[in-house]
Amino acid sequence: MSWIRASTLNWIQFLCVKIIKSGRVPKHIAFIMDGNRRYAQKNNVRKFEGHSQGFDKLAETLQWCLDLGIPEVTVYAFSIENFKRSQEEVDALMELSQQKFERLLSEKDKLMEHGVCIRVIGNLSLLPQNIRKLIAQAMILTKDNKKTFLNVAFAYTAREEMAQAVRTAVSGVERDALQLSDVTQQLLSNCLYTSTSPDPELLIRTSGEVRLSDYLLWQVSCSCIYFADVLWPEFSIWHLLAAIIKYQRSYAQLVPVQQADEMANGCLNERISLFHTCLAASRLASLEELNHAVA
Ligand SMILES: *[C@@H]1O[C@H](CO)[C@@H](O)[C@H](O)[C@H]1NC(C)=O
Repeated sequence: MSWIRASTLNWIQFLCVKIIKSGRVPKHIAFIMDGNRRYAQKNNVRKFEGHSQGFDKLAETLQWCLDLGIPEVTVYAFSIENFKRSQEEVDALMELSQQKFERLLSEKDKLMEHGVCIRVIGNLSLLPQNIRKLIAQAMILTKDNKKTFLNVAFAYTAREEMAQAVRTAVSGVERDALQLSDVTQQLLSNCLYTSTSPDPELLIRTSGEVRLSDYLLWQVSCSCIYFADVLWPEFSIWHLLAAIIKYQRSYAQLVPVQQADEMANGCLNERISLFHTCLAASRLASLEELNHAVA
């Protein structure tokens, strides 16, 4: 199934979307797409089928987000913890991901036409070479697109991300590119995989589980969190709209927290700006390297 599809709202859904859009909609939503395996079990199909339907649901959800005017979405596709599942399931998931990234690249024209920027966040070195290369291609191809952003957390956990950010900052101090006093909240935010994204305003987790599972722990400190009691392949536009209504109701309380958060972020000195510029350049260089590596 295609990543980019046409809107399929019926008139009543269209009407509800229109009403909800007259209020404030989040600029960035993060999803924990949980429940594919339980869905497979419930419906007596193979796990792989559950994951595959989960992907179709992602494509559908992205379209709803576009219909709602939400420019950025981050999804938890594969956690570092997931490597501990059976070899058979991990292999099947890698196979599915490879197909989906290939499909994504084959839809290059549509991606460019819609201005979709794809970013994969996570430790790519944990992934098989062929997938790394596809990811690098997709990211380089779409890096200058600015209309909509899809961030895919793949081989990701928030604590690994934070550890990696601290290592980056420490190495900056060690080689005198930074001073110890430069290591602030803002500097660490800029060393995370998500450095180029604003924090999500809404996080939605499906399947009824009420935990964050090491996902975007740094970034959701002020976000509205919504737990939907439905397995991911059964997620519907009504669940999404309910989550947004909850966000709209709590927005008034969220604003002061977010403003305080922004004020805590002081202004940058020249040394720090240079450090960030070099970091961005070195990240791009490692993608270029992956892209040119022989798979
Ligand atoms: C990715 O994981 C590997 C293996 O655990 C580790 O050596 C490496 O430092 C990590 N890379 C980053 C960028 O965190």
